[in-house]
Formats: sequence, C-alpha cells, structure tokens
Amino acid sequence: QVIHLADYRPTDFVLERVDLTFELDPTETKVEARLIFHRRPGADPAAPIVLDGDELTLSGLLFDQVEMDPSRYDATPESLTVRDLPESAPFELTITTIINPEANTQLMGLYRTSGIYCTQCEAEGFRRITYFLDRPDVLAPFTVNIIADKDANPLLLSNGNFLGGAGYGPGKHFAAWFDPHPKPSYLFALVAGDLGVVEDTFTTLSGREVVLKIYVEHGKEPRATYAMDALKRSMKWDEERFGREYDLDIFMIVAVSDFNMGAMENKGLNVFNDRYVLADPELATDADYANIEAVIAHEYFHNWTGNRITCRDWFQLCLKEGLTVYRDQEFSSDQRSRPVKRIADVRHLKSEQFPEDGGPLAHPVRPTTYREINNFYTRTVYEKGSEVTRMIATLLGKDDFKKGMDLYFDRHDGQAVTIEDFVTCFKDASGRDLTQFSLWYHQAGTPLVTASGSYDAAAGSFTLSLEQMIPATPGQQTKEPMHIPLSLALFGENGGKLEPSSVEGAEYAGEVLHLTGRTQTAVFHGIGSRPVVSINRSFSAPINLHFDQSPADLAHLARHETDHFARWQALTDLALPNLLKAARDAREGKPVVCEATFVETLLAAAADESLEPAFRAQALALPSESDIARELGGNNDPDAIHAGRQAILKQIAEAGKDVFAGLYAAMTTPDDFSPDAKSAGLRALRNTALTYLSHAEQTPARAKAAFDAADNMTDLSHALTILAHRFPDSAQTREALESFRDRFAENALVIDKWFAIQAGIPGAKTLERVRALMDNPLFKRTNPNRMRSLVGTFAFANPTGFGRADGEGYRFLADQILDIDGRNPQLAARILTSMRSWRSLEPVRADHARSALTKIEQAPDLSTDVRDIVERTLKG
Ligand code: ARG
Ligand code: ZN
Repeated sequence: QVIHLADYRPTDFVLERVDLTFELDPTETKVEARLIFHRRPGADPAAPIVLDGDELTLSGLLFDQVEMDPSRYDATPESLTVRDLPESAPFELTITTIINPEANTQLMGLYRTSGIYCTQCEAEGFRRITYFLDRPDVLAPFTVNIIADKDANPLLLSNGNFLGGAGYGPGKHFAAWFDPHPKPSYLFALVAGDLGVVEDTFTTLSGREVVLKIYVEHGKEPRATYAMDALKRSMKWDEERFGREYDLDIFMIVAVSDFNMGAMENKGLNVFNDRYVLADPELATDADYANIEAVIAHEYFHNWTGNRITCRDWFQLCLKEGLTVYRDQEFSSDQRSRPVKRIADVRHLKSEQFPEDGGPLAHPVRPTTYREINNFYTRTVYEKGSEVTRMIATLLGKDDFKKGMDLYFDRHDGQAVTIEDFVTCFKDASGRDLTQFSLWYHQAGTPLVTASGSYDAAAGSFTLSLEQMIPATPGQQTKEPMHIPLSLALFGENGGKLEPSSVEGAEYAGEVLHLTGRTQTAVFHGIGSRPVVSINRSFSAPINLHFDQSPADLAHLARHETDHFARWQALTDLALPNLLKAARDAREGKPVVCEATFVETLLAAAADESLEPAFRAQALALPSESDIARELGGNNDPDAIHAGRQAILKQIAEAGKDVFAGLYAAMTTPDDFSPDAKSAGLRALRNTALTYLSHAEQTPARAKAAFDAADNMTDLSHALTILAHRFPDSAQTREALESFRDRFAENALVIDKWFAIQAGIPGAKTLERVRALMDNPLFKRTNPNRMRSLVGTFAFANPTGFGRADGEGYRFLADQILDIDGRNPQLAARILTSMRSWRSLEPVRADHARSALTKIEQAPDLSTDVRDIVERTLKG
C-alpha cells in the first residue's frame, strides 16, 4: 500500500483529550484509553471514525461510559471503526486492549528490555498500544495513569508533570502524569522498572527551576554525568542561540540497552539507546563522548523543533529532523572546533548520504510517496535536510535567518505544519524569493557543478563558467536547475584574498555566489594577478564539484585558505586523483606511485603547529575505500581499491616517518583524562601518527606496545584496530583481542566495539570470522546494538570482506536479513540498505549481489519494511 502526500486531508474528528490507564504486566498489560472527540465542523455528519491499530485485540469498548452495541463497530487487528456518532456533540470512547510487552521483539510500541518497560512510538508505534488516530496532526493533552507491581517497578514515568501517586492494593502502586502541551501520539512515552538516577537542576532564562533526571541501570550512575553536563549546556545554548526555553517542571532521560535507533524525543521523557548516554574514560572513546553530546542536544532541541511545532504528516519529517540536526551540528560547532566539526559532518554526509542519493534508494528531502515510513528515517531526510537548512542560513545571512526562525516559533507554536509553512517564514522575514531554492526539498540526487576559470591579465578580470547537472533518480527523470549558494573567494600569489571591484553575471554578496542557471558565467573585475579560486568553501552547498585545479593551486589553498574546511577540501582534492589512479593501477597489476606535491603538502600540514591537532588528524585521514568507490563511479573492484589505498598510505608513511615519529612523541595529554575537544584532538593526531608508523614499519610491535600502555578507550581501541586490521593473524593481535574480551566481557557497549573491530578486518577471510563470532556466547541476536556492531559493520564498513569476489558475503547477508526480519523488521530493513550501491560493483560481484537480493525478495512472509527496501534496491 502506497501513501501519497497528495492524498492528505485532515481527520473528520478532533481529539480533545486523552486519558490512559496502564496496568502493567510482562505478558498481559491492560491498556484503557479514554478518548474525547468531536466531529470537525464541516465534516461529513455520517462519517464513522476509523482508528489505527497494529496487531491489537479489542477487549472492551464503551461509548460515553456505556458498553457499546457490537452492531455499531468493527474491530480488526489493524483498525477500529465506530459508526452512528454524534453530529457535533463531544463524545467519549473508552477502549480496552491487552498487549504483551515481553513478546514485542519489534521494539515498537510498549516492550520490555532487561526488566524495564519502555515505549517507542515514532512513527507508528502507538497503534500497537491502543486504537488511535495515530498520525502527527492529531494533538491533545494526555493524562497517564500507571499501575504496577511496586517491588519490580519502583519507578513509573510518563510525559509531562508528575501529578501524584499512592499505593494500589497489595504489592502494587500507581502514578499519574499530566502533559499540558497538546501532542501527537508519536511523542507519548511510558517507562517503568527499577533504575538508578542522576539528578540535577537547571534554571531557565526566565528563572524557572527545572528538575533534570537521567535514569540508568543501577551502578552505572557515574557514567551518566557527562550526559547530564551535555544536557545543561544544550539547555543554555538553546536559550542563547535560538531564544528557546524549556517548558515543563521536569526533564527526564532514560537509557535502555535494546533500542532500534539512537534516541527518541518524547515530550519531557526522552528514551535513549544507552550508547548515547553512558561514558567514562575507561569505556568510552572520544568519538563516543562527541556522539553523546550531539544526541543529547539533538533530542533536547526537538522540544521546540518537533514537539512544540510538529509535522502535519510524515512526508514532512525533515521539518523536524533536518532542522534539529542543523541545530545539534551548530551546538557541537560552538562547543568544539567549528572547522573540525564541519569537516566531520561533511565526511559523514559524503560517505553516507551521497551514496543514498546516487543509488536506488534516492528520494527527495521531502518525499511525496512512501510504503513504509520507517524506511524514511534516512541520511537524506536528516543530514541533507540539515544542509538545506544551512543553505537557508547562508542565503539569508545571520540576522534574517534569526528573524525567520523567530517568526517560525511565533507563528506555528502548537501546530502541525509543513515544509512550505517553514520556508514561508524565511521568505516573509527576509523578503527573499525562495521558490527556486525550494527545489532542494523536492528534487533528489546530488547536483554536479562543473566549473572552469580563465584569467585575462590585460583586462584584470577573471571569468568563471559554471554548469549544474542533477542526475536522474528513481521517479524523477528530469530536473530543474536549482539555486545553489556557493561560498567563494579568490586568493592571490602571496596568499592574500583578492577582492573584486565588481562581479557581472551572477549575484555575489558576502562572499557567496548564487548559481541559479543551468549554466552561468560570472566575471570578476579588478583582479590584478592570476587568482587561485576556492569554491564551495565550508561546503556551502551539498554538491559534487568538478573543478580542474592544478596540484600547485590546490597546495596553495591548502596553505593559505582562511577557511580551514576549504584547506581540508584542498588536501582531499590533492589526495583523490592519487587514490583513484592507485586503484586502477592496482587492478592492472601496475606499481602504485604517489605524486610528490600531494605528499609534501600533506606532510607540511601534518607538521604545521599553527594548525589544531584535530584538524591535522582529519587531513591525514585519507578518503575511505567507499569514498574512492563512489568517486570511481562504477565497475568497482573493492580489492583493487583497498590495495591501491594501502600502497598510498605506505608511501606517505615512509616519506613522513620522522614527522610521524615526532608527532607520536609530542602529542601527549595529561594523565588526568579529559574528554574535551582539545584533548581529543591530541589523541586523534597521536593515534593517526601511530597508524602511519605501523604502515612504515609493517610490524605489529608498536601498536601492541600502545595497546599495552593505553589508559583510555580511545587509545586502546585504536591500537586494537591497527592490530586487527593490519596484522590479523599475528600472535600479538590474538593476545590483544583475548585480553580485551576478558577485560570487558561484562560491558556490552565495549564488547560491541570488540565485535565491530573484528567485523571490519579487510579481506576474504573475515566472513568465516564473522560466522564464528555469531556463535560466541557474547553474541546476542536480539540486541540491535550487537547486531549492528557485527553484521552492520561487516556489511557497511568492510568492502573487501563483505564484497568478496565469490559473493559469499552477500549470501550471508541475505540469510541474516531474513532471520532478523522475523523478529525486528525495522532493524532488518536498516541493515539491508548496505546493498544500496550494488550496481556500481564490477559485473561478477554485481551478479552475486543481485542474486542475494532476489533471494530476499522471493522469501515468504517478508515484512513491509524489508519488502520496500529490497524491491526499490533491485529496481532503481
Ligand atoms: N525522532 C528520533 C530522532 O531523530 C528518531 C526516531 C526514529 N524512528 C524510526 N521509526 N526510525 O531523534
Ligand atoms: Zn531527531
């Protein structure tokens, strides 16, 4: 069944109030929902009400407190239809359902994990709890009563403010919560069980005190202090940067270990995958700390962008997600290093979203059809959605962007709105016509901008010709030219900026060039010497740029650009041709040679003490194998890409041996561990140096010594990764893997790393290792984090292992997907997206991939989630 945006219409009934009572039981939870409705004025007076359900059984139905005559309703697992309802008067339906949290392996709706009851309702999980108008444009205040066994569930939590609680018969107690802010069902949450807590308070800008609580497993409280700190910083930042204050007396976060996604922004009661809450130096890497900070902020920021203002329908998902990702990225940029954060975000966008946009699963940021909404929580909706918001900020400038955001909060508070409503606020605030710009929401595919420049010394002018092309994507064969904001600057021979006296042929203001035509020529006047041009600085637009710049010009930018993102981009542009050529040469059995300008420029950056260590670490981390595959475009051989890249790394390592030895010695951090960005940068650069040294030395000795000496998880897991990925069969690696496992066997999040590191070992032999690991007593099929760490890492991040030439990797994945799908369709569908680039493989592998996909497609009883992904992947 396909859902179309064009079919949207409001409900016939308005929901006034929701009153829920849960009698919790592991296998037979009774849910009583009292719903007050009235017919929407103007709606068909004879229309029945049709409520959504999913695997439900109705066990009672009252109309205005009186048992309802069975002739007036029909109940199926998927819906409850009630007829003969009042024409305009309010009426009350009391619906009773019995559900089984223990048996809920999909982890949608109400389920139990490690003895904790918890919920996940976005997008359509509430209908697995009770019959409801389960759509985001139906908003109402909720009262929630929870009754449960007191000993097993001392804690009874729901959204909003606590009303009260008391004993309730022998061994039981109850609690009542009221959320005054009208909300859609996807923001409902309930948690019950026995957990430890970390408490704090935050005083808002207007002086209200908010109680903050983070609930974790008993004994893990100390590991939640970093998350608490990140929460308070988020609250402060949202007040300062966006003028947004928190609006309830209490804000709670609960960490659970079985969770399908990262976290969920339920009103006043966020539920988190515990990997985005728990951290301490012994157990968490710097990347873990950064992720915790970002996800805590993201969910908190949803309180305004998502909860106070929500989506009219699920096609508008980017309204809340793209905007909230933009906000969390800005937060991290302000808390850490802006250029380094931008580099990390762009790397992520290119490695995850670009392949999606360039493959069979490509879809617009604001799609117009879907079969399974869970499959649209994508990099495109989230990360490209953030880029589109960022472009609005670039187009309007700081002040007008702020005015537009203020207008949005003002105009739409309490409403469920659309992307058009959002964009209109920026148009109204700035007076800028955003019609063409809006195509970014509607046209899928990564635009390709081709640029060429020529300098006329006699005229003192520089001419830049630009052309844009947007590739065809499924369902969109032809595209209109878009409005692409290109941050652009010209640099002179001495490295200083050249300011044009005027620019013809394109709007150029505040160093932003507006590309709006399919082709466009801009002439920069008053340019006294041949300029080196820097285009798409800070990655102002999410595009592919083809601009044929000489290695000398790129090296010039790598040294002199004032925008450090653009310096990194220049270094990457120097690296790429070398890596592409290396892959081709390795495939033909030719020797791989690295060009000198590139190596010199890279090593100069590595040794440049005026650059922050985190930046230098990013510069030294070359494009990944999948980045190279994407740039090659088709007929790809993962083994050749790997071999070519390894050869380049070795040459850089040998040429820079002294530089790396120097960095390894110099980049030390104080004994007292701190997860701050500066210390993390020192560790990142030191560990990068270690990687190169082990490429130069070709022995595991140094990595093993680093492993033995490590006193934090960043260093320890980095050393273990070098050992496993570079020297998988050495005695040192075996010993390190065993000691790591024994030391952390009790710690699920660390054991996830142990599985992931091994799943990422390059080469055809890894599949056997992965199979063996699935039989390891530490492996847990039902735990999404564990599944992602082993099967997910193998499929997404191991091109040579997963993509081995005989196709065994793809067949293995097909079997796993079918197995996972029986329990948890959402997880199965997500892991299956690892096949999205199968068409760019060389023909033999592509054939194997197609057969594996076909095997999935032909299996009986596929979930809608997996069916949707597999059919689109094969077809597109
Ligand atoms: N809204 C959540 C977040 O971005 C994610 C919910 C994901 N839901 C899903 N069905 N995949 O923070
Ligand atoms: Zn979100």
